[in-house]
Amino acid sequence: MKIMFNKPRSSPAESRDRTTRIHLTELCAGYPGRPVLHELSASIPALATTALVGPNGSGKSTLLGVLAGVIDPTSGDLRHESDQPPAFVPQRGAVGDALPLTVRQTVEMGRWGDRGPWRRLTRRDHAKVDTALDRLGIGNLATRQLGELSGGQRQRALIAQGLAQASDLLLLDEPTTGLDPEARDRITAVLAELVTDGVTVVHATHDLGAARSADTCLLLRDGRLAARGRPEDVLTTSALAKAWQPT
Ligand SMILES: Nc1ncnc2c1ncn2[C@@H]1O[C@H](COP(=O)(O)OP(=O)(O)O)[C@@H](O)[C@H]1O
Ligand SMILES: [Mg+2]
Repeated sequence: MKIMFNKPRSSPAESRDRTTRIHLTELCAGYPGRPVLHELSASIPALATTALVGPNGSGKSTLLGVLAGVIDPTSGDLRHESDQPPAFVPQRGAVGDALPLTVRQTVEMGRWGDRGPWRRLTRRDHAKVDTALDRLGIGNLATRQLGELSGGQRQRALIAQGLAQASDLLLLDEPTTGLDPEARDRITAVLAELVTDGVTVVHATHDLGAARSADTCLLLRDGRLAARGRPEDVLTTSALAKAWQPT
């Protein structure tokens, strides 16, 4: 089937809608021989935090991959209301925690998309790196090795790397998973603050606490959209029980 990106807007009313950052229309995606997302239609609001919620295997990471542009939809339409490439913070286990990098070097890699790997960073790049370190409260850890940090500190370094990319869309996969409650709360608070800096945040999570503090939620079950809306409307006991029910 035909894949359409940046399809012309279908109605004038829609074209006036500046509050939507991403539109998905009947989007299907997956891996060779393994369809995962089935006819997903949803919109993701600009300047808000959106949580992708659902049990393991429901398709959260696949959807983030599609939003990040690393997985091509097999059919349907994905439209970004911005021409900036998104910043993507993959799940922590996917990044070598033992890489021999300092926190600053890790965050500097966020500038590579604009500068190229191992190229000398400009003064502006360094300023963006400093801002990202400050935003995450890890300026004092800049010279420390990534491998010697706590899980929460390491996660903040990876989020700072995403932030240093200076995109208006930040995608994060399970940013609070495996962290203690204090580290989780801190990261959740940082994500909310980023919105006031002009960033649209989308994070995949099966941490219901993190999901409840998002502005909106998309609840996935088996690669389909089970519910969407405000957390208090979506994350009801019965909706969660249904989403987590074995199929
Ligand atoms: N690289 C891959 N190749 C094939 N199948 C995959 C791959 N990654 C994930 N899957 C499968 O796709 C489905 C959805 O996975 P995923 O999007 O990672 O779910 P979630 O993030 O919600 O746990 C699962 O059944 C998973 O096994
Ligand atoms: Mg996942």
